[in-house]
Amino acid sequence: MTQKVLVTGGAGYIGAHACKALRGAGFEPVTYDNLCTGWRDAVKFGPFEQGDLMDRARLDEVFAIHKPIAVMHFAALSQVGEAMREPGKYWRGNVSASLNLIEATLAAGVKNFVFSSTCATYGDHDGVVLDENTPQTPLNAYGASKRAIEDMLKDFGASDGLKSVIFRYFNVAGADPDGEVGEFHQPETHLIPLILDAVDGKRAALTIYGTDYPTPDGTCIRDYVHVMDLVDAHVLGLRHLLNGKVADGGHEVFCLGTGNGFSVREVVAEARHVTNRPVPMVDGPRRGGDAVKLVSGSEKAISVLGWNPARSTMQQMVADAWRWHQNGGYAR
Ligand SMILES: NC(=O)c1ccc[n+]([C@@H]2O[C@H](COP(=O)([O-])OP(=O)(O)OC[C@H]3O[C@@H](n4cnc5c(N)ncnc54)[C@H](O)[C@@H]3O)[C@@H](O)[C@H]2O)c1
Repeated sequence: MTQKVLVTGGAGYIGAHACKALRGAGFEPVTYDNLCTGWRDAVKFGPFEQGDLMDRARLDEVFAIHKPIAVMHFAALSQVGEAMREPGKYWRGNVSASLNLIEATLAAGVKNFVFSSTCATYGDHDGVVLDENTPQTPLNAYGASKRAIEDMLKDFGASDGLKSVIFRYFNVAGADPDGEVGEFHQPETHLIPLILDAVDGKRAALTIYGTDYPTPDGTCIRDYVHVMDLVDAHVLGLRHLLNGKVADGGHEVFCLGTGNGFSVREVVAEARHVTNRPVPMVDGPRRGGDAVKLVSGSEKAISVLGWNPARSTMQQMVADAWRWHQNGGYAR
């Protein structure tokens, strides 16, 4: 019988790509999502169970129906600006909701857990390359909520034998090259789709938040990873758990990036090159909660999991995003 994996947030950007990768690897992904930022049309590779992570009875019901062997937990609120304005929404929507999910997971006897964490847990470290051992000093409630969930997973490992793989992603970009799923956030806050909106006139111009950072061209620097490479790492992480590579009660953290930093202006230049069109831009002020430079060391994922982020060139990420963008996103 096909083994099932419960995918929270499977109707969202990364979760939908993960469902495709899981299906391709021979698992059945069961999406659990409340559609607060996700899309029903993105659920294409397995059953859909609509529900909120705060609804413990619904979670228990879904675990009982599907009997998953593992959980991949993508569902979250993830907008830094909103987290600065409304921290309570993030402590409730991410931390309380994840606590509910972890307790439901353990009550169902499931011990394998893969978690989406983020480089936003690090805060500013003066441009050093960030790896699994870098101290986490988040600048906003989004990063703080994700760090708290990491801590929770470790505590439930010690108390109940939960085994977890924690991925700290850098900036995720690109789309499924087959065009079945892609990035479609409303409102959009991610740089590449915002650039592409400006290219094709869906927005008047791209606003660059901060042009006086201590970087060569004054704009923030980020490390970008292709969503298909990212979800490949999740399948490898799942197998790592299922093959007993993580001890009972243990957890393992992996950074997922490429080690290459791109400034906002460098990403814009690549978009101009790929689309062969101008990118209308205006300079804006810095946003609170943004670190100057976030670049990852991903040697651990490569050496321990055998990860190969082959699609994560800026050219490929922009080209795949542009193809998806031109097809127009999801209807609902
Ligand atoms: N996109 C990035 O660059 C990036 C970078 C680092 C980490 N992450 C993390 O990756 C994960 C996925 O990000 P994404 O960009 O795909 O976001 P997304 O908003 O596209 O997807 C999140 C999904 O979770 C669902 N959801 C949210 N709260 C829920 C709840 N309480 N109950 C049920 N469903 C709920 C939403 O409806 C949505 O489908 C998040 O945990 C995010 O923090 C993303």
